[in-house]
Amino acid sequence: MGLMDGKKGLILNIANDRSIGAHIGNNVTQHGATVGYGFLPGDNPEKSERRARKGLDAFGVTNAWMAPCDVSRDEDIEAFFAVAREKFGTIDFLVHSLAFANPNYLKKDEGNFTSTPREVFKQALDISAYSLISLARAAAPLMPQGGSIIAMTYYGAEKVIPGYNVMGVAKAALEANARYLAFDLGNKKIRVNTISAGPIRTLSAMGVGGIDEMFAHTERKAPLHRNIEADEVGKTAVYLLSDLSSGVTGENIYVDSGFNSVGL
Ligand SMILES: NC(=O)c1ccc[n+]([C@@H]2O[C@H](COP(=O)([O-])OP(=O)(O)OC[C@H]3O[C@@H](n4cnc5c(N)ncnc54)[C@H](O)[C@@H]3O)[C@@H](O)[C@H]2O)c1
Repeated sequence: MGLMDGKKGLILNIANDRSIGAHIGNNVTQHGATVGYGFLPGDNPEKSERRARKGLDAFGVTNAWMAPCDVSRDEDIEAFFAVAREKFGTIDFLVHSLAFANPNYLKKDEGNFTSTPREVFKQALDISAYSLISLARAAAPLMPQGGSIIAMTYYGAEKVIPGYNVMGVAKAALEANARYLAFDLGNKKIRVNTISAGPIRTLSAMGVGGIDEMFAHTERKAPLHRNIEADEVGKTAVYLLSDLSSGVTGENIYVDSGFNSVGL
């Protein structure tokens, strides 16, 4: 028996086979779940879908559907959930695995954070943090028996990681969103948690200034003296999305080789 036999859920978004969302999808599928994935349509929706689909093929995931979703557009969210309702009827879980900030303001240069323009701040917070509220709001009616929602965050929400800048502020908002949503949706038996992952080489991570230093620092300082694999985030996701974690909500779990636990 798989831990997630018969469960259905949504993962937004995946870009390619490196995406944390693809690794989470692979793990929950191995445990018996069926998944619908989102992808960012961008300028060339067919190409984006092809690349995301290849990401699933890499894991041999064949029973999944995909639909476009740009979370900065309410009509996209509506259309994505209309597909989810049609394909699944009800769902058991939702994975928020997406973020964006203008890479010009993710630099380690002195003054880079202080120079963050209002529009760059708004866009980063809208796409990376507000979207958890809008996706949870759309998902809740599809979870009549309750469900589990998770979102991906990073230690830069809590401590200064040079170069993470406005994304750190967005992740702080994301983590607070998860706690308030956990409280608001608790009576509906919907749990909301976050996973704080150590650095992983993905498309988004490559846009963060000083990422190589984060990898090197983790190896030096973390109790496990190595960086994590995206698959390890996937395994923790199985715990949070399955009934194994039925009593856990409003929580943040670190999958970071223990990096956050060390002061010096
Ligand atoms: N890679 C890391 O080191 C790391 C560490 C901790 C947390 N995270 C978080 O994990 C999540 C997944 O990122 P990833 O590292 O797998 O990179 P990724 O590039 O594979 O995934 C990021 C996703 O965000 C999507 N996205 C960007 N703008 C969007 C928009 N307007 N609407 C909808 N989707 C949009 C992209 O299309 C992509 O699918 C993000 O929240 C990221 O901040 C990543």
